[in-house]
Amino acid sequence: WPVFADDVDAILELKRRRNAVILAHNYQTPEIFHCVADIVGDSLALARKAMTVDAEVIVLAGVHFMAETAKLLNPEKTVLIPDLRAGCSLADSIRPEDVRLMRRQYPGVPIITYVNTSAAVKAESDICCTSGNAKAIVEGLGVDRVIMLPDEYLARNIASETDVEIIAWKGHCEVHERFSAAEVRQLREDHPGIIILAHPECPPDVVALADFSGSTAVMSDFVATNQPARVVLLTECSMSDNVALHHPGVEFVRPCNLCPHMKRITLANIRAALETNQHVVTIDPALAAPARRAVERMLSL
Ligand code: 13P
Ligand code: SF4
Repeated sequence: WPVFADDVDAILELKRRRNAVILAHNYQTPEIFHCVADIVGDSLALARKAMTVDAEVIVLAGVHFMAETAKLLNPEKTVLIPDLRAGCSLADSIRPEDVRLMRRQYPGVPIITYVNTSAAVKAESDICCTSGNAKAIVEGLGVDRVIMLPDEYLARNIASETDVEIIAWKGHCEVHERFSAAEVRQLREDHPGIIILAHPECPPDVVALADFSGSTAVMSDFVATNQPARVVLLTECSMSDNVALHHPGVEFVRPCNLCPHMKRITLANIRAALETNQHVVTIDPALAAPARRAVERMLSL
């Protein structure tokens, strides 16, 4: 605690002075998640909450696409991302011209874009989804066939739960693609009775062997509701740290993979962001309108 106290006190004071709130994703480290964040959650919750924030400044403790989504949904606010290098391998896997190509290749097929994309890619799509609502969005469109970009594994995992045909792209999350079916089998052997929860960005053979799959918020709710004696969350490392704090009676087995992008955000650069007003997130107005439409359509479905 003493290591963090100085930055935490300074951030709490800066938030008051600047009328700022901090939105933190579930993968942020515990000192950010528990000590300075005002709103925490999965990408869906952060998008929803960003819309209704009435503070003047939003600091997004997460990755760049999350900050862009907050700016899209609340354009009057100053949105800050503490480190511009906080990217995402999924967002980097696809460009707007790739989406246009898919549209030409499959005329009339609706394009669903995962929120883990740039505003420019969202602007080319019909609607967005998150891991928390992907199946509902796929089925809610009322068609037989959709394109779902860019996460191949998310698309294949949802395809296994629905009759809607899903055309996928080849993007992968560099964190979740590292989990393997062999690792899941080993976990079951080493920890009899363990409950295995997998994020849907994991490869389909991993999700098939898990007991349950869902977004980071859904995993957290599962632990809260079911209080398993022993659990493993196949997702980013900080998730278990953050959830475990609320459930001292649950044993968390922790093979996990770090997201280097999420870990770019620290107490020190959150403090610096509020002190120096950096880095301000801006979106080209020509892209903002169609990108916002895709995100708002998701939220209204
Ligand atoms: P959630 O929407 O489940 O929080 O996932 C976001 C993410 O980046 C997972 O890698
Ligand atoms: Fe992107 Fe994967 Fe990191 Fe999530 S965990 S931000 S999907 S690279």
